[in-house]
Parts: sequence; structure tokens; C-alpha cells
Amino acid sequence: MVAELASEMAAQGERGHSLNRMNAGPEAVERAVEILRSGGLVALPTETVYGLGADATSSEAVAKIFAIKGRPSFNPLIAHVADIVAAERIGVFDKYALTLARSFWPGPMTIVVPIRPDCPVCELARAGLDTIGLRVPANATTLAILEQLDRPVAAPSANSSGRLSPTTADHVADDLGSGVDLIIDGGASRIGVESTIIACLGGTPVVLRPGGTQREELEVILDTELADPADDKVIAPGMLTSHYAPHARLRLNATDVKPGEAVLDFGGQLSGGVVHIDLSPDGFLEEAAANLFASLHQLDAAAVDQVAVAPIPNDGLGEAINDRLRRAAAPR
Ligand code: TXA
Ligand code: MG
Repeated sequence: MVAELASEMAAQGERGHSLNRMNAGPEAVERAVEILRSGGLVALPTETVYGLGADATSSEAVAKIFAIKGRPSFNPLIAHVADIVAAERIGVFDKYALTLARSFWPGPMTIVVPIRPDCPVCELARAGLDTIGLRVPANATTLAILEQLDRPVAAPSANSSGRLSPTTADHVADDLGSGVDLIIDGGASRIGVESTIIACLGGTPVVLRPGGTQREELEVILDTELADPADDKVIAPGMLTSHYAPHARLRLNATDVKPGEAVLDFGGQLSGGVVHIDLSPDGFLEEAAANLFASLHQLDAAAVDQVAVAPIPNDGLGEAINDRLRRAAAPR
């Protein structure tokens, strides 16, 4: 037992666990609140992907996020809050927004609403917009931080701009490392794709980004069919086509494997490949979403040139998975 513990600690040392890293729990909450209060950056576990958090009311703190990520300043950040009451101090909720918040928070849904005149979130975090994306994440440690801080936390995904989103603390450490004051290790993100973003700006809500809340669930709760974002002029400013980029080129909807290619499979459709990763051998979309970014990180680490990606059904979480894969495959 003692030997096991010692070897686990040695392994952690080798993986580069350093002073700016803590496991999720009450001590990490206390430390994170101190750092956020004094304008620092904390990488936070959430059920979707890891976020890079700063006090959303402080433009000095938020500026550090844009700097370390290399994020263009026209791309607004999501403000994370502990509950609906905190969200309503920032934005104006119509009946759709309220229904969505009550049905899906805490959870993988970002609701874009008009700001209140006394909105406490700084202009830099909003990229100057008069709307704001709000989210209550479903992670106990991060929720405790938001409650104790009692301020909104601006948090994009904790990766360099244009790179893969992180679903483990190691992904964050490898990409942003010592530039972050504290990385909280809350294990692998349960859902593995970012939140669904839905705009409630008058009229029927519009999905700006498919994500962890499935379109079918939204349509049931809102009792209406939602427009396809592709048909809509409104998009999230950050939804540039080339995004979520791994180093390797992706060949989507592959039905065969070419010499030298690696394989990203789903439900055992393809065989062979210099590296073979199956997102879900039994063909479950939830499992595939949870494994998506970690698998792309793994393919990056294997330094392969091209990846044959098996077709993935477009229902349920498949919509978000296919969206991320299309962006990862886009020319750049
Ligand atoms: O699951 C998530 O949403 C994660 C976790 C950390 O919460 N966050 C995340 O943030 O994915 P980020 O910054 O990587 O992506 C947020 C997207 C960007 O494409 C941004 O343009 C869009 O949300 N966005 C933010 N505020 C918006 C607004 N007011 N109107 C339209 N789009 C907005
Ligand atoms: Mg992102």
C-alpha cells in the first residue's frame, strides 16, 4: 500500500505536477477564491472542458486571459455564475431564457442574453457587446468557488487560441503550464465537448454552437423546432471555421484506411491504421464525446500526419462531435 502510494506520487512528479496544481476539494476552493480575488488566473474543472477563469468584473484580470491564450479581443468570454439569481444580476432573461436556465442549469448550456444597464462584467470580457453568455457549470468544486467568490468568473476553454480544448488537468498544464496561477485537477471532464450556446435575444431562441446539451432536449423543453445555425446569420464570434485544431489532417467520414494513416474510429467501423483509437467501441455517442479531445490530443502526441475518421451519427451529442471534427478538419 505504502509502496503503491510512493510510486503514484513519483508518477505524479514525472507528469510534472507542480506547485501551481491542486486536487479538487475544499483547499483548492479556498486557494482559488484568494487568487481570483487578487486578479489571478485559475484553471477550473467543469463537466464540459476545463476553463481558464478570471474575475469577470476586473479588466486587468480578464486581460491576462486574452494574453495567455493569444485570443483575439473581438471574441467575448462566457461569464460563469453560481445560480440563476447571480445570472439575473448580469443579464435580462426573457421567458425562453428562464425556462432554459431552470431546465438545464447547472449544466452544459450557455445562454446569451442582453446585458442589464448595471452589468458588472467588464467590457473587455464582453468584447464590447451589449449581450452576454452566461453559464452555471455542473462541477461541485467550481460551483463552490463561484458561490464563495460571489462574482462572475470569465472563463474560456483553458487552451491556447485555436488549439484543442482541454478535458484533463494534464492537457491544461501541457498547453498553458506555468502561465496559470493555479490548475485544479478535477479528473477527466464528464461530457467532453463544450456547452451548447443558445441566444435568447427576442423571438425563438437560436443555437449558436451545438454542444453538451442536445438539440432534441432543447426542442422538447421549448416545445418548438429550432432553426439550424447554419441557416442563420447570427453566429458566436468565436466560431471561426478552423478551430479545435490538432496537428494532423483529418479525413472525415472515411470508409477505408489509406497507407500511413492513423484511425479515429467509432463503433469498430474501420480496421488497421498506424495508430487506432476508437471513440466508443460499442457506438455510444456520450462515450465518444467524453473521449473526443483526449483522443485528438493522443493523435497529436503520436505525431501522425493524417487521420481517417469514421462516420459518426449526427443525432444527440453527435451534432456537437461532428461540429468539432469539421472545424478540426478545416483547411488552415
Ligand atoms: O463549455 C464551455 O462553454 C466552456 C467552459 C469552460 O464553460 N467554455 C468555452 O468558452 O467553450 P470559449 O471561450 O472557448 O467559447 C465560448 C464561445 C466563443 O465562440 C464565443 O465567441 C461565444 O462563446 N460567445 C461568448 N459570448 C457571446 C455572446 N455574447 N454572443 C455570442 N457568442 C458569444
Ligand atoms: Mg474554446
